[in-house]
Amino acid sequence: MKIVHVASELFPYVKTGGLADAVGALTGALADRGHEVAVYLPGYRAVLEHKDAATAERSHRLKVEQGIEFLSGEVRSFSPRPGVTVHLVCREEFFDRRGAYGNGERDYEDNSERFIFFSKAVVESLRLSDAGADIVHCHDWQAALVPVLLRQAERRHGVTLALKTVFTIHNIAYQGVFPSRTFTRTNLPDELNQMDGIEYYSQINLMKGGILFADRVTTVSPRYAQEIQTPEFGCGLDGVVQTRAEDLVGLINGVDTAIWNPASDEQLPARYSRQNMSGKKVCRAELLKRCGFTGAFRGPVFGVVARLAAQKGVDLILANRDFFQSNDVRLVLLGSGDRRLEEEVRALAREAPSKVHFTPRLDEAMSHLIEAGSDFFLMPSVFEPCGLNQMYSQVYGTVPLVSRVGGLVDTVIDADDDPKHGTGLICDPSSTGLLEALQRALALFADPARYGAVQQRGMARDFSWKSAAGAYDRLYQDSL
Ligand code: ADP
Ligand code: GLC
Repeated sequence: MKIVHVASELFPYVKTGGLADAVGALTGALADRGHEVAVYLPGYRAVLEHKDAATAERSHRLKVEQGIEFLSGEVRSFSPRPGVTVHLVCREEFFDRRGAYGNGERDYEDNSERFIFFSKAVVESLRLSDAGADIVHCHDWQAALVPVLLRQAERRHGVTLALKTVFTIHNIAYQGVFPSRTFTRTNLPDELNQMDGIEYYSQINLMKGGILFADRVTTVSPRYAQEIQTPEFGCGLDGVVQTRAEDLVGLINGVDTAIWNPASDEQLPARYSRQNMSGKKVCRAELLKRCGFTGAFRGPVFGVVARLAAQKGVDLILANRDFFQSNDVRLVLLGSGDRRLEEEVRALAREAPSKVHFTPRLDEAMSHLIEAGSDFFLMPSVFEPCGLNQMYSQVYGTVPLVSRVGGLVDTVIDADDDPKHGTGLICDPSSTGLLEALQRALALFADPARYGAVQQRGMARDFSWKSAAGAYDRLYQDSL
């Protein structure tokens, strides 16, 4: 099949979260299955500066009608690996910036223009390249307008650009909601600015377009597929999602084992496997040293790697500061994002420098070291569409402590509920729920045989993209 993916992030070129990992790994796995895969990505500065993009050549220039203007851009293309072509949608005014969505303080004011342009340019590029796709698969709100624009363009030009479109919701909390006047920039017919179009409480909602107009809708875990049909998790789109219930499926992400594998991870001071765990001790010692924790320490190390957003339950960790201060444990956090959370985590690390360490930035190497060097990985998310770190943790023999939501429930088995199969600990997403699970973690760690068995079971699980890519493959075939 000719499969075109459209996304705003792609590992290793641009990443703010799991979207990049998921699209990077899925597209590679689809190519491995013999498909011809193309990925459209905004030509951000960081991508153009990447060594792979040095080989990018202009495929074509294009002009996009956006409101009353015609905006020019160009598509530059390169092939990072056999079977995959990356097409960068370039326009300096929009994408030659340091951040993908904002400057660190706040989102860019022109994000609607930027991603409407991106979506329109993708459709125009598909039209110009004259190579009809079997599947056009769009990810999250930044690409959600593509299924809508594509069918309009087909009607207008009398061509077929894609046999079927798929839209994946990685996180329904981010929808691309903009003032109603933004609608004119889409140049869509007025009837689409209504309740059964992309109108949303007198504004416009790009994600709604993807949900309503794609042939198939997916999200990144079965549990989240159910959750987003409820007011508690649907973020106002639950009713819209319900209308597509028959075409909605939750497919769990995988782990890119070329990047996340303790037996071959070059970013670690030592490598290890289920059969020989000694390297994990080296990683733990290096992590403790890196954090400035000196002296002999035998208690458990709790690791956190997360975007600092309300979603990740960092407030629940902060609410349990007494636990970390009064027990013989260490807490190592890596993350950036919300300024208030950053400040509060920093304050906690200042209060207890011999026990808590905080790295306030994006740091790939440190994220690998925390995954490998910790004994427990904390992920008490308030909601979690899929979550990748709890899977990376299991692969790295680090016992995940997660909350009972979304993909976390679908990928972790509680060791107390199911002593024969348990691979982690699951808690209610509340501060007392987390405290109860932290106590259970202490008890588990105090019993080396039981702890070791939980580790081993996690490491034995197969989270590779092979099965996930197979599921997408079947979905594509089925829709065709
Ligand atoms: P989300 O996409 O909601 O942020 P996921 O668990 O799906 O959550 O994916 C997060 C990804 O981003 C993981 O690969 C994680 O290691 C990475 N990540 C998050 N924060 C950082 C950070 N500060 N430094 C390095 N990697 C990070
Ligand atoms: C989103 C979700 C996360 C998921 C990732 C990749 O960022 O928050 O749970 O793992 O997308 O699908």
